[in-house]
This record gives sequence, C-alpha cells and structure tokens, in this order.
Amino acid sequence: MQLIVCRDYNEMSRRAAGLAAESIREKPSALVSFPGGETPVGMVSLFVDMVNRGELDISGTRFVSLDEWVGLSGTDEGSCRLFLHEKLLGRLRRPFADVHIIDGAAEDLGSECAALDDYIARYGPLTLSVLGIGLNGHLGFNEDGVDFTLNAHITPLSETTKNVMHKYFGEKFHPAFGITQGLAQIMRAEKVVLIASGAHKAGILRKALCGEVSESVPASLLQRHPNCFAVVDEAAAALL
Ligand code: GLP
Repeated sequence: MQLIVCRDYNEMSRRAAGLAAESIREKPSALVSFPGGETPVGMVSLFVDMVNRGELDISGTRFVSLDEWVGLSGTDEGSCRLFLHEKLLGRLRRPFADVHIIDGAAEDLGSECAALDDYIARYGPLTLSVLGIGLNGHLGFNEDGVDFTLNAHITPLSETTKNVMHKYFGEKFHPAFGITQGLAQIMRAEKVVLIASGAHKAGILRKALCGEVSESVPASLLQRHPNCFAVVDEAAAALL
C-alpha cells in the first residue's frame, strides 16, 4: 500500500483525480468505479473538469457504481444514484462509453446483484476502484464481519452506518440494507485508490492501514492489495 498524505481536502481530491486520470490514460477501455458519499465530491468535480476541458478522453471507458442504499431510487435525495447523476454523469459534456448504475429500488434485488456481477465479469476486472471508508471500516457496503470472498450482495447495515446515514438524507428514509460490490471484485481491481479526509476518520484509518487484516475492519483487506494507494489528508492521517 502506498500512503499519500495530502495537506488538505483539496490536495487529496487533486491527487485522487490525478490517479484516476492516469488509469484511464494508460488504458482507455478501462472499467472504473467511484464511491458516493461526501469524501469523493472534490475528486469527482476535478475529474469532470478534466473531461470537459478535453484533457481526459473517457469515450472508451466504462463506469460502474459501487453501492446503494436498498429502497432508494435515482430520484431520492441521498441515493448514490442521484449523487452520481448530479456530480458526475449529468455534468459530463463527453460521456463514458457505457455506465451501469445500481438500482436500490429494484423489486428483484437478487437480479440487481446478478446484473452487477455480470457487468463486472463481462467488462472487468475493474481497472480502477476508488473507495471511501466508513467509520466502521466499511468499503461500499461491505460492513464489518463481511465475507472477504463475496461478489455483489445485499447486506444489513451496521449500527455505525445507521448512525451516520442521516447526513445524506435526514429522517426521510430509514434503509436497513445496502447493496454493494463485494470485496472479491474490489480486490481484483488493477488499482485501488482509498480516499479519506478529516479527523473523524483518523481512528478507523489507523485500524485499516496499520491493524491486523480482519473481517471486523473490512478496509484492512486492502493491505493485501498489490496496487493500492491510500490518499488521505493530514487530519485523517494524524494517527498513522
Ligand atoms: C457510505 C458508503 C460508502 C462511502 C462511505 C464513506 O455509507 N456506503 O461507499 O465511501 O460510507 O462516506 P463519506 O465519504 O460520506 O464519509
């Protein structure tokens, strides 16, 4: 794992966007995945700017989403699908070759998982997986206790996740499950970029990067990835 400590959130965003651009320049037919949440907002914005200025060609690149709250649709505030539409896909003047976005409101969630698996199997493995980290060490919705060998799956949300989820959609929704790419798919990615910002992430980042590899901290598995970058700001790196 390569640790890149950045001065602040903006520098973290710049470095992460730069690593994403590098993956696509090296392999224009890349399959890439970005997370939702607060952390990637700056990175995604810089990525869009590069594409819209003509500095990065994504016309051969495919995009697949990482995770979604079960029950939330693409019009629901706080859904990953809406985030991706508003921050990324809807802002691109030159679109990706193709996108596959998880539908958290699908009636048949088993088929939704199968479709995600099929997409990644067909066009993958992932060239680049950008990931945030939850306060319990989750990646996507690979919650603590997750089976490292899983592909896409539905999972009950942990208490930690339930405690923080209202920052995305207030009291409007009370999802109990998440749908997510599995750690098996993430670990097969050619490059992984883990991003983290802020003092509230310092404790879990220490466990993930310096602690033992354990299902109780899913992000710790990244220690075993052969090409993983942790791009973090100084506040998040304070306990490393
Ligand atoms: C969310 C999502 C993850 C995200 C993580 C951190 O619940 N399931 O994909 O990376 O938690 O979110 P944030 O960046 O808002 O701290």
